[in-house]
Amino acid sequence: MIIQPRTRGFICLTAHPEGALQTVKNQIEYVKSKGQLENGPKKVLVIGASTGFGIASRIEAAFGSGAATIGVFFEKPSSEGKLGTAGWYNSAAFEQEAHKAGLYAKSINGDAFSDEVKQQTIDLIKKDLGTVDLVVYSLASPRRTHPKTGVAYASVLKPIGEAFTNKTVDFHTGNVTDISISPVENEEDIQNTIAVMGGEDWKFWMEDMKNAGVLAENVKTVAYSYIGPELTFPIYRNGTIGQAKNDLEATVSIIDDLLKDLGGKSYVSVNKALVTQSSSAIPVVPLYISLLYKVMKEKGTHEGTIEQMQRLFTDRLYTKDGIVPLDDKGRIRIDDWEMADDVQAEVAKRWNSVTTENLSEISDIEGYRREFFNLFGFEIDGIDYEKDTNEDVKVPSIE
Ligand code: NAD
Ligand code: NA
Repeated sequence: MIIQPRTRGFICLTAHPEGALQTVKNQIEYVKSKGQLENGPKKVLVIGASTGFGIASRIEAAFGSGAATIGVFFEKPSSEGKLGTAGWYNSAAFEQEAHKAGLYAKSINGDAFSDEVKQQTIDLIKKDLGTVDLVVYSLASPRRTHPKTGVAYASVLKPIGEAFTNKTVDFHTGNVTDISISPVENEEDIQNTIAVMGGEDWKFWMEDMKNAGVLAENVKTVAYSYIGPELTFPIYRNGTIGQAKNDLEATVSIIDDLLKDLGGKSYVSVNKALVTQSSSAIPVVPLYISLLYKVMKEKGTHEGTIEQMQRLFTDRLYTKDGIVPLDDKGRIRIDDWEMADDVQAEVAKRWNSVTTENLSEISDIEGYRREFFNLFGFEIDGIDYEKDTNEDVKVPSIE
């Protein structure tokens, strides 16, 4: 079939398997060009392994450290005449390349919030790997059904207290407008968002795996957070999602207690703002990212997900001296180059002056737009999108 992008707002409804394969190959090449970690992880579980920071973590673990990987994700498989999702094609590409390189790689497609998928994952670890020495928690979801109560929670992306008005961009048209987002109306919206994106599910995973005996001595686990600049605080860090991130960060000490007798340690890594399926859904943030990309590219400090994960593993989690550099709140910071004073000052200056008219000059809106399509395998160099493509691609380890 000829596969072209079809978008609805910040969602792309189609995905291109050959484009996805090429993006995975490009990430593998990047990681290999950086050399192998000497003391990196060897048996890795990635929860949320199919897109964004999750697939990049999996690629870094496998190709930067020779690790066996199990990936858990929630994607739509392809079938005769029907397209799979981008994360499905990414995972098919990843497994194919990993197997070619002689690396163990298996995947589980299902709801990571459920007890069933946790059990299935534990059974697979027991059968094939015995234990894992790194657990990456990279889920991003708008909803979660609680495994113990069956209650279905939906997260909201809203400010708390007062309405937030600021600039935003439609990255398809390049129109910069003001958007006003009304605050949450009740405490329940905050609690629901914490239930979906907070730390409880990460804790459940670690408890279940500990109880099942599938965590190795000195196991590490890492989950991802975001802080960002003051201009996005009302919608991000001080908004509903920020409360969930506070909860996630507070879960570190609980998991540390759990892992103590194994000599294990848990971390939250604060990552850079990047174009992913999740971040494109947040108002205001895409305009910030467009300006940030331009400034960081000018300074030569721009990174994508794979560069971030390569640096997380090499310069933070698995340093030569074994010391994991942390901030004063105990967090890993790989948003350090984003948050550098000179970068933030320049972004803030441009933020004040940005309009529809000067957008393409002072921001990297074109780079944003292209990366958005790249997430779905489109606009990738070397792919002929007029060519007939086989849409029915299997993830080798999934029936
Ligand atoms: P993403 O949307 O690209 O990835 C989400 C992953 O979660 C996918 O693999 C998806 O299949 C999986 N998933 C979602 N619901 C699931 C479910 N019920 N069961 C199993 N798998 C499920 O998102 P991302 O941007 O890579 O985000 C990952 C983490 O990084 C999040 O915690 C996010 O807040 C954080 N983060 C993102 C940014 C950013 O700018 N994108 C910055 C800092 C931190
Ligand atoms: Na992810």
